[in-house]
Amino acid sequence: MQRLVIVSNRVPPPSGVAAGGLGTCILDALQDHDAVWFGWNGDLVSTESEITSACARYDRLTQITMPLTERDYREHYLGFCNAALWPVHHCRLDLARFAPGCIEGYRRVNLRFAKEVMSRLRPDDLIWVQDYHLIPLGSNLRALGARNRLGFFLHIPFPPPEVLLAVPEHLWLLNALCSYDVVGFQTNADRQNFFRFACGHLDGEPMSGNTLRIAGRIVTAVICPAGIDTHSFSEMAKSRRAAAEIERLRRVGEPLINIIGVDRLDYTKGLPERLRSFRRLLELYPQNRKATTLMQIAPPSREDVQAYAQIRQELEGLCGEINGQHGDVDWTPVRYICRNVAREALAALYRGSQVGLVTPLRDGMNLVAKEYVIAQDEEDPGVLVLSRFAGAAEDLREALIVNPYDLDEVAHAIQRAITMPREERIERHQALAVRVRERDAHNWMAEFLCALDIDRAPALSFE
Ligand code: G6P
Repeated sequence: MQRLVIVSNRVPPPSGVAAGGLGTCILDALQDHDAVWFGWNGDLVSTESEITSACARYDRLTQITMPLTERDYREHYLGFCNAALWPVHHCRLDLARFAPGCIEGYRRVNLRFAKEVMSRLRPDDLIWVQDYHLIPLGSNLRALGARNRLGFFLHIPFPPPEVLLAVPEHLWLLNALCSYDVVGFQTNADRQNFFRFACGHLDGEPMSGNTLRIAGRIVTAVICPAGIDTHSFSEMAKSRRAAAEIERLRRVGEPLINIIGVDRLDYTKGLPERLRSFRRLLELYPQNRKATTLMQIAPPSREDVQAYAQIRQELEGLCGEINGQHGDVDWTPVRYICRNVAREALAALYRGSQVGLVTPLRDGMNLVAKEYVIAQDEEDPGVLVLSRFAGAAEDLREALIVNPYDLDEVAHAIQRAITMPREERIERHQALAVRVRERDAHNWMAEFLCALDIDRAPALSFE
């Protein structure tokens, strides 16, 4: 029996809240598969000697997780992954910090993960490494003697080469990326940027279709947009519990129109810009006063990175400002919730809202946009307002596509969404729902594995 082995920096518990698109997409995609999933359990220990891996079985999924040391957390997770690579990949060079020593932490954790995977590897396992935290893992596995097919998927954007050149060790990093057999991207734009880097700055030579020859090896670059399990999410949104929750919210809530935003509290999500756009809506269309509420759910994230602490302060200041300036004794314009909300409750909130506001400044895909579409009542759907800088915008063209930096444009789009006739809402929603269903989590995984498992592609099975 061939096993699928997934490796990611963070491994969410199957029953918990998966903060971020990676956890959501993998958990949804793995529902019908046998798989082994390696990674960090979220805990910290003081020294390397205290690291032990733990194995837990949940139905068809086995998770093998380990803690990081406090030093790994500082150097690898906070330092190189989230203060250097994350801002660079999201084109925020102004926020990128390349602190000395951090890259050593990144190399160290990648090597440790590789040794752990290697110690449990079978010769015909398919290995699928996830995201920017673990780019060198594949080359480490090869150096340790793995002969397996190796795949990598980048959940975040691949920036233009001119931006990536700012990473001090970019050549080492990108050569490591090219040691995988298959590299997957969210969008066409990401893959193009990768090709431009590989051919312009490494010795990559484009071959036919989506392959490159580089350092005597062939690398296949595929586009597989991440998705959700549309069936289970739509069931959640249609459940009796969700209906009761929507009814309750309608009874207690003062406004007639609910706008919802759900994002990890990250500077890439465009949250201050979103609040300012909402304030513009109240100024440009005063009829929305006392009739409209923006509910912003923003669970905190990576708070030990300075830029995240700053964005939280800015957001909270703005919420207070808008509520103070526009609110009244019987109306709170912005409802801000700074913690995780269960996915079932989110499904109900999406369904009970007239507008889904997804306006990141840059985003690999954005699964909230897909969840919002799938949660809607087909007879009376809400409208998705979506940033042109979210990977999801490449597919979801029937959303109201906006430039999140242009506050007036977003305000006008919200107003258009609020006043959109029902027939147009239904038409747009139908088209969007078809796309989201076509590009769901199962499809994401099947397409990638089809490219990775060349020998058995047509009959791939994990039974
Ligand atoms: C994004 C990244 C993931 C990451 C998630 C949550 O979706 O692409 O790799 O796991 O954010 O971030 P965290 O730093 O909490 O793991």
